[in-house]
Amino acid sequence: MSQQEKTPLFTGVKNHAEKDPIQFHIPGHKKGTGMDPEFREFIGENALSIDLINIAPLDDLHHPHGIIKEAQQLAAEAFGADYTFFSVQGTSGAIMTMIMSVCGPGDKIIVPRNVHKSIMSAIIFSGATPIFIHPEIDPDLGISHGITTESVERALEAHPDAKGLLVINPTYFGVSANLKKIVEVAHSYCIPVLVDEAHGVHIHFHEKLPLSAMQAGADMAATSVHKLGGSMTQSSILNVKEGLVSSKRVQSIISMLTTTSTSYLLLTSLDVARKRLATEGRTLIDQTIKLAEQTRAKLNEIPGITCVGNEILGTKATYDMDPTKLIISIKELSVNGYEVENWLREHYNLEVELSDLYNILCIVSLGDTEEKTKVLVEALNQLSKTHQRAETLSPKAVYVPNIPTLALSPREAFYAETEVIPFSQSAGRIIAEFIMVYPPGIPILIPGEIISQENLSYIEENLQAGLPVQGPEDETFTTLRVIKEHQAIK
Ligand SMILES: Cc1ncc(COP(=O)(O)O)c(C=O)c1O
Repeated sequence: MSQQEKTPLFTGVKNHAEKDPIQFHIPGHKKGTGMDPEFREFIGENALSIDLINIAPLDDLHHPHGIIKEAQQLAAEAFGADYTFFSVQGTSGAIMTMIMSVCGPGDKIIVPRNVHKSIMSAIIFSGATPIFIHPEIDPDLGISHGITTESVERALEAHPDAKGLLVINPTYFGVSANLKKIVEVAHSYCIPVLVDEAHGVHIHFHEKLPLSAMQAGADMAATSVHKLGGSMTQSSILNVKEGLVSSKRVQSIISMLTTTSTSYLLLTSLDVARKRLATEGRTLIDQTIKLAEQTRAKLNEIPGITCVGNEILGTKATYDMDPTKLIISIKELSVNGYEVENWLREHYNLEVELSDLYNILCIVSLGDTEEKTKVLVEALNQLSKTHQRAETLSPKAVYVPNIPTLALSPREAFYAETEVIPFSQSAGRIIAEFIMVYPPGIPILIPGEIISQENLSYIEENLQAGLPVQGPEDETFTTLRVIKEHQAIK
């Protein structure tokens, strides 16, 4: 049996549960006996029997010396890392760890502006100053791609004292930059590269997919095993290559950001997901790619629907792509993405990954079959028949607002004296809160940015379309919290 066939953590926890010890420790539901019976029956005895806590035989995620350590070592080997840390705080926890491992108050970190909110949270917690790089916007699709090698070069030339460079690779939509080149450039300045690999756990295991962070030589990567690698929701990993970052520092920071009651359901699911990816991943991903490509071809036959493929490659920020992501543009039809999402739910009991004004995103993964993708194609065929736009109308223009100007560091803005003012009167003021559409959770405004009329119109457009705009204290968007302006005393 190869090492990667082993699951030391799952096997150890399962063996412990099978011994059926008398438990005088938490969790107090004690294998489900002390729990609501309806939930117990629903969730099942097996799951509850391994809902355990860090007693000695089960090791401790905060100081791994036993089966968790072994499982993390096997994951490191599978992902080509020097060290792998398991996260029960999602990829958000792993991302915060990466940033706080390299940045302290006042340190510069270079980041694309279209980052997930966990990155901005870590920037506020650490007190780091973000140096933003504009991502490339796709004018046809209305989505942001990654950053270009040239923009990284320019940012590094201007800020050679930065403590880190963060790259999203691949993006939510599966597009990746030339990460290897970006890493080379950053390393020539001895600056570590931290990769938000939330959407790329599988790419390491198939040569047709973009290079993974570890393959490209990055220093750290926060990788969502739960999103596309078959582990349970909230479980992720943080891969580390030593040199420019210290694994000891990473261990102490991840521990500071992690609950002391780490879920063994999540941890064991990481162990088995790693085994499956390492031993069968290539074959399974091969089938997934074929299924996604067949589906893409069928979707492209539907009038008014486009599902982009390799043709979007070749710009400076679109170096490679993950074909298992189906970016389905519906802007030629008479509905927006959110209406399509609801229509599919209502008429076909089908849930998409996300929708925006112009697209829906569907993810094909190791868990899919042709039967399911056929339903998607059939549903969109039906949608296209019933929602054609009048021929006289010109195609909908795609509109993405400019990136706002940062007037204060996000941390200064977050802790500054603030006031609440009407939304309609907030243009020109500095915002003190986040506003984003979730998913994908990418901020329209972050604390410290100057609100423009364009931002307000974009927010209104998203709200009117029914999209999930979130962030401010006032969920009705009647008011916004901004930095207080002090008038001169007369
Ligand atoms: C690009 C990106 N980074 C990070 C995250 C955070 O991952 P998690 O939900 O596992 O905390 C997400 C989640 O959607 C994401 O899309």
